Amino acid sequence: MAAGATPGRDPGAGQRILCVGLVCLDIISTVETFPREDSDTRCVSQRWQRGGNASNSCTVLALLGAPCAFMGSLAPGHAADFIVADFQRRGVDMTHVAWQPRGDVPCACCIVSADTGSRTIVLHDTNLPDVTAQDFERVDLSQYKWIHWEARNAAEQAAMMQRVERHNRSRPAGQRIRTSVEVEKPREELLPLMGRGDVVFISKDLAQHFGYRSAPEALRGLQGRVQPGATLICAWAEEGADAVGPNGELVHSDAFPPETLVDTLGAGDTFNAAVILALSEGKSLQDALTFGCQIAGRKCGVQGFDGIV
Ligand code: FRU
Repeated sequence: MAAGATPGRDPGAGQRILCVGLVCLDIISTVETFPREDSDTRCVSQRWQRGGNASNSCTVLALLGAPCAFMGSLAPGHAADFIVADFQRRGVDMTHVAWQPRGDVPCACCIVSADTGSRTIVLHDTNLPDVTAQDFERVDLSQYKWIHWEARNAAEQAAMMQRVERHNRSRPAGQRIRTSVEVEKPREELLPLMGRGDVVFISKDLAQHFGYRSAPEALRGLQGRVQPGATLICAWAEEGADAVGPNGELVHSDAFPPETLVDTLGAGDTFNAAVILALSEGKSLQDALTFGCQIAGRKCGVQGFDGIV
């Protein structure tokens, strides 16, 4: 863990990064090779892991030494007990968790294939209400220098982002909160969120859904959807990541693949966290992209997140 990263330590006002989105329980089976449908095989190992994009990004931020907080929904029960203990272990602030009186904590069955490093996810995420703009009203914005949203309930999240925009308008440039949004799933209702935020992350999945065959092609095609002055970033697995910056400058980083691909579950969330941290520290877009690819590469070489720093 980096210096100054004591878990749970109260950082100065305006120093934290907040990630809003999903937390779920990942039940991960590592298999030698991906099983045939309707077969009955043994896995090499199995573990429970706290998952969800925003939650994973918090894990990585904490490991990189950045004070951070998670905002998302949970409902009391065994899965939540496991998740809460794990957030605490990592030193991620949970003040803004919205405890729901009904609904199930989302749970994913994940198969990580040791021969390819692929991850196959089947997520049950159906009935737990998401955090709302009203929940977000209670967030003390002065605590945060950066707020990141994983696109889910777009209309509510757009209202949250508008609150931050209003807050920023009344602040001098140096005290504004920077914002980012990840649009990963190719769902029509999430796309308007690309028009908000200083930094927009889009996934290879989303880009391919639109018919793009590379990150630069996706950036060219989707650049018009982000607001003027925003940065659009697209990571593309072993091809690295590309971005277009506030002045239209194009930036690329190669991937940093590990010697052996071990586990790619959460690699995108790792990339996002590392890029956000670097940009929040004033690094250039090029340096942030390179750092993101480096840390994501390390993640792919280990099971889970321990060992990425
Ligand atoms: C990885 C991940 C997993 C979770 C799934 C949800 O990016 O967040 O932890 O099971 O995606 O879509």
